[in-house]
Amino acid sequence: MTTTYLNPARVTGHRGIPSLAPENTLGGFRKAAEIGVRWIELDVTLLADGTPVVSHDDTTGRCGNRNDLLQALAADELNNMNMAALHPDWPHEPLPLLTDTLDLLCHLEMGLNLEIKHHGLPAEQVVAAVIEAVRMTDFPIEQLLISSFSRDLLAECQAQAPEIRRGLLVDDLPCDWHTQAQHLNLFSLHAHWRQLNYLQVKAIKDTGLKLYCWTANIPDEIASLWHWGLDGVITDYPQRFNEIHESE
Ligand code: G3P
Ligand code: MG
Repeated sequence: MTTTYLNPARVTGHRGIPSLAPENTLGGFRKAAEIGVRWIELDVTLLADGTPVVSHDDTTGRCGNRNDLLQALAADELNNMNMAALHPDWPHEPLPLLTDTLDLLCHLEMGLNLEIKHHGLPAEQVVAAVIEAVRMTDFPIEQLLISSFSRDLLAECQAQAPEIRRGLLVDDLPCDWHTQAQHLNLFSLHAHWRQLNYLQVKAIKDTGLKLYCWTANIPDEIASLWHWGLDGVITDYPQRFNEIHESE
């Protein structure tokens, strides 16, 4: 059976919609859906027992009500954690399991850019845990894209689940981006919006790769990138990109 993949929306909410709701939380993803965001990006890492959870950091202190190392936490402690500490008026938000998040996004019919964080974990273990969660929840792979800054993690994804699309995250575009794209059979490159110039965008697009930029929050600042062929933006403020939403 052939899979008909859906292209990520032109506007993806970075960690949900952190300008309006706690980042990387179920409530945040619901809020994004409520205002019309169709794809979100989130970050995944593992707990001590290897359970995949949604978190950008390897500790809970920046967004949570206490500071714990995730790799020292057990799954039954997640409900006690309140990850809405940066949004004082927001109700309690547990640290989400990846499986619960996939179920919710499936229910909301949202697309997902799932970024795997390395945080010093063995690539084989972290990828196996993520793929198991995707398969266990039957999350539709046609609306899934896995991204990472780590080439090792992406190579592991390619080995364990070649059917899931892969995107390489970069800050500056590395000289060997084309070789890497071929080697990892990438779907997309995800570059910092400030680092891209016309010739780079053209060269990337000429290879057939999709190009996404992060984390752009002011629409005017990336106007040229759209003209040059950018496929999508990952932003904390999807609500500011209404015109782009409407042009899809
Ligand atoms: O996917 C883009 C962006 O999430 C990469 O940076 O640090 O926010 O995960 P970071
Ligand atoms: Mg991320």
